[in-house]
Formats: sequence, C-alpha cells, structure tokens
Amino acid sequence: MRTSTLAGLMALAASSTTAQFVNTTAPFALLVLSQNETYNGTTISPCHEGAAIEGLCIGTKLGSPPPAFVQTYTQNYSASATVDPTIGVVGYLIFDLPVSGLNESSPMSFAYNPSSNVAVPLFEPSESGQEVAFHEDQLFIPSFTNDQVTPPTFEENVFDRWYICNTNVGYNYITVAWALGDAAPQNPSCVKASIRRVFV
Ligand SMILES: *[C@@H]1O[C@H](CO)[C@@H](O)[C@H](O)[C@H]1NC(C)=O
Ligand SMILES: *[C@@H]1O[C@H](CO)[C@@H](O)[C@H](O)[C@H]1NC(C)=O
Ligand SMILES: *[C@@H]1O[C@H](CO)[C@@H](O)[C@H](O)[C@H]1NC(C)=O
Ligand SMILES: *[C@@H]1O[C@H](CO)[C@@H](O)[C@H](O)[C@H]1NC(C)=O
Ligand SMILES: *[C@@H]1O[C@H](CO)[C@@H](O)[C@H](O)[C@H]1NC(C)=O
Repeated sequence: MRTSTLAGLMALAASSTTAQFVNTTAPFALLVLSQNETYNGTTISPCHEGAAIEGLCIGTKLGSPPPAFVQTYTQNYSASATVDPTIGVVGYLIFDLPVSGLNESSPMSFAYNPSSNVAVPLFEPSESGQEVAFHEDQLFIPSFTNDQVTPPTFEENVFDRWYICNTNVGYNYITVAWALGDAAPQNPSCVKASIRRVFV
C-alpha cells in the first residue's frame, strides 16, 4: 500500500515536471456569456493591476459593428496532448504582454485572498500558471481530486465557477473572478458568467 502510494506520488511528480505546454493554439478572443445583459457578449480585455500584471477586465461588446481592436489570447498545451473526453485540452491561458517590441508569455494564474472565497485571475510573465481546459470552446478549470467525500478521491472533473465581479487586487475594476468551492461568492457584486473563446 505504502509502496504503491509512493510510486504513485513519484509518477505524479515526474508527470508534473515533464508536463510542458509548448504548443500554442491560434489566437482567440475571450467572450463573456451571462444571463446579465450588461455583461453578456462583452470581450475580455487586459487591465493594469501592477508592474507587468494584468487583470481580466470587461471590454467592449462584440456587436455589430465589431470593435476595431479585440485583444486575443492563446492556449499553450502539451505537444503530446490527447483530448480527454471529460476535461478537453488542458494547458495555460496565455496573454502575450508586449514589452519593448517583444512578447513576454504571461500565463493566467489566480490571486488568492485567504479571507475570501473569490480568486482573481491575473496574467503575469512566468513559466507556469493555472491549468485551464477548453471543452467545446468553453473555459473550465480541471480538477483531479474530490474532497467532498471522505477520504478524498481521485476524480477527473471540470468546473465552471466564473463570475464577473468588482474586484480589487491593485485597482477597483470589473473583472473575471472565480468562486473557490461550490458556495456562492461572498463578494456581493458577483454575477454568474461563463467564458467562451472565439477564434479570430
Ligand atoms: C507558450 O508557448 C510559446 C511557444 O512555444 C513559448 O514561447 C512560451 O514560452 C510558452 N509559454 C509558457 C508560459 O509556457
Ligand atoms: C447572450 O448573448 C448571446 C449572443 O452573444 C445570445 O445568444 C444570448 O441569447 C444572450 N443571452 C442573454 C441572456 O441575453
Ligand atoms: C447586471 O449587472 C449589473 C452590474 O453588476 C447590475 O447593476 C444589474 O442589476 C444586473 N442585472 C440583473 C438583471 O441582474
Ligand atoms: C505540437 O506541435 C508539433 C510541431 O508543430 C506538432 O508536430 C504536434 O502534432 C503538435 N501536437 C499537438 C497535440 O497538437
Ligand atoms: C506579440 O503577440 C501578438 C499577438 O498577441 C502578435 O501579433 C505579435 O506578432 C507578437 N510580436 C512578437 C514580436 O512576437
């Protein structure tokens, strides 16, 4: 039992250190879908939260006529990726931060506040970030552990716990946010949303 747990851990460590997301998708815009008409159909636009740190702010609506400029993103995924039927394609959500004529690959990761159940996604130059999954062009967060049973079990799943909220991880903005766990976000401004990609 102990040996198999150790072997499992070592296999997991080996797979996570070799999980490099070096292939890149074509660029796509990110769109908010929501029952709330204020946010439904708006694009997601990077906004300054700190030095080389961008939030995922609400941009213009992708209506007609379409806006002159729509920010695009890519997903980096594993060169050996096979499409998992439950999870879709796992990888990083990337914003190319322009820095003096070059791009700094900035994967999305979450900023956590221990006193809140609302995490805020940020783009920041790094070699690693939060694993995300696109399944039929909808953005999910993959999960591999279910801790709602005792003892926790290995369970592949994807979650859509995206919201649009007034957040402050540097500035007050209307941004994409993520509810930790399956409770409603404690931030009263949060409105449920989903995130879709649209290839441009
Ligand atoms: C994403 O992929 C591109 C192209 O392979 C690479 O230049 C970049 O460093 C990658 N970014 C991350 C965060 O892995
Ligand atoms: C949201 O926008 C989409 C098209 O962008 C539309 O199909 C859908 O009906 C809208 N939903 C609501 C609740 O307005
Ligand atoms: C939509 O969201 C806006 C901004 O949070 C809010 O003022 C408005 O009341 C919401 N509309 C509905 C129908 O919930
Ligand atoms: C990753 O990119 C390489 C080089 O372009 C290509 O041969 C390979 O098929 C790609 N892998 C996937 C899973 O798309
Ligand atoms: C930087 O990324 C943008 C897309 O976000 C692309 O159009 C541009 O060519 C890239 N610039 C360089 C120098 O790679």
